Amino acid sequence: MESQQKISPNSNATPIKEITEGSATISTSGAVFYNPVQEFNRDLSIAVISTFVNDYKEELKAAKGQQTGVENNKITILEALSATGLRSIRYAKEIPGVERVIANDISTKAVEDIKQNVVKNNVDQIVSVSHSDASMLMYQHRKSDQFEVIDLDPYGCPSHFLDSSVQAVKEGGLLLITATDMAVLAGNSPETCYSKYGAISIRIKSCHEMAVRILLQCIESHANRYGRYIVPLLSLSADFYIRVFVRVFSGAKKCKFSATKLSHVYHCTGCDSFTLHPLIIAKTDKNHHKFGIPSGPPVSKNCEECKHPHHIGGPIWSAPIHSHEFVKKLLDTVPDSLKTYKRIEGVLSVILEELIDQPLYYTLDRLSGTLHVEMPSMMVLRSALLNAGYMVSFTHMNKTSIKTDAPKKVVWDIMRCWAKQHPVSQKRLIEGTPAFNILNIEPDQEYSFKIHAQANPESRKKGFLRFQENPAPHWGPGCRATAMVGEQKIQKSVKNQGKRKRDVSQESVDK
Ligand SMILES: C[S@@+](CC[C@H](N)C(=O)[O-])C[C@H]1O[C@@H](n2cnc3c(N)ncnc32)[C@H](O)[C@@H]1O
Ligand SMILES: [Zn+2]
Repeated sequence: MESQQKISPNSNATPIKEITEGSATISTSGAVFYNPVQEFNRDLSIAVISTFVNDYKEELKAAKGQQTGVENNKITILEALSATGLRSIRYAKEIPGVERVIANDISTKAVEDIKQNVVKNNVDQIVSVSHSDASMLMYQHRKSDQFEVIDLDPYGCPSHFLDSSVQAVKEGGLLLITATDMAVLAGNSPETCYSKYGAISIRIKSCHEMAVRILLQCIESHANRYGRYIVPLLSLSADFYIRVFVRVFSGAKKCKFSATKLSHVYHCTGCDSFTLHPLIIAKTDKNHHKFGIPSGPPVSKNCEECKHPHHIGGPIWSAPIHSHEFVKKLLDTVPDSLKTYKRIEGVLSVILEELIDQPLYYTLDRLSGTLHVEMPSMMVLRSALLNAGYMVSFTHMNKTSIKTDAPKKVVWDIMRCWAKQHPVSQKRLIEGTPAFNILNIEPDQEYSFKIHAQANPESRKKGFLRFQENPAPHWGPGCRATAMVGEQKIQKSVKNQGKRKRDVSQESVDK
């Protein structure tokens, strides 16, 4: 289905914009937030909630030992920050089995728009409009009448909505959370990241995954306060934002494992290598769990490979960020009528190939850039790792990403062998630089760069649309009271594009 936008003047000469997206057509005066680039986010959310609702109803049926009567399990979605109501209307129209959607916003103008749009789309039987502070509304639902699904799509950072949302979601319910403050999460301002998310962000090449993992640890820490914990279904980095889909469960015993799912990150400032250090480790013996603090630090003061110092970031969520079981179901059932279907198919296919147990990643350009050596092709480097018996995958977050279970010594030895075959210009090898120090160490063994049969992953062979396209008009999160629809605002967003890109630093831009 095509999304369309028409602009017509109203009595105050403010352009009224009519937008068609999916099965909804809405009007907005331009004073209320609408961002067309987020269509992918809305499409994907529809697919995720649909798959979740199926699973959830099956689970309830199984728990009750029923074979029929699933209609008793009513599903209520709270869109806590709704703006135009577009998302809520689409949820009501496009997600099978949803009985109730609450579209809430604090802004009077937004609530006026939502009311009109709900009537215009004939969904007033399903969508109720609420004019409240999102946190207050969620706190009113923390003891009873909790929601099966809560969607948080704020400007910037979602952290001040987390305390209420982890309490207002039903047992096993779903939270969908967006964060757009990528500069903070990507290491530009670690002190602000700590104050907002309780973790230090660092300027690492895999900053997008670090951002996702910081958000997940933050949600988990809020949930833990109430004896609850999260299970991530899908975690995404797309365009200028991150989005996580997590289920929330209760259980004091399970919460004891939360610290085992968190790690500090030692990041080498010279060569971008990383080493994780879990907060707690668990040993299980005949169903008896023992928890202990691991000894450390896990690295020397200076990096063993390049001799440069480390930064310590985190804590981050170091357990899996997706459930591959859920993503498989999602990929099988996502409706191909969604306008962004191709992108969803591509991204989910790469996610299914991601090494789920290997947090963070290297990038091809950074590995070769550090050594000033000619860049090997992706297939060649992947082959070297596979030939040596290690696993390797892309992540959907970066075109040149390399996730692997190979130790960093092996990764750098492979690069050392590559540099022997493609010698680095002597004038680039200045004493004390990471390149000089790394190439001063002999590799432990020879590595083969012969193309490996599994070097080319299926998602690449099939030519899926796997990575985000270059920024289009409206690219960027927008800001408070920015309509993103008027000519002026469009110009402003275009003007800001480069700036935002610079803000999140080079690391955030896919090569
Ligand atoms: C990014 S927009 C939401 C976009 C919308 N979810 C969509 O898909 O188009 C954020 C909205 O949050 C609202 N908002 C900000 N603070 C709020 C609060 N404390 N409670 C409820 N709404 C709030 C703003 O008025 C704004 O409309
Ligand atoms: Zn190093």
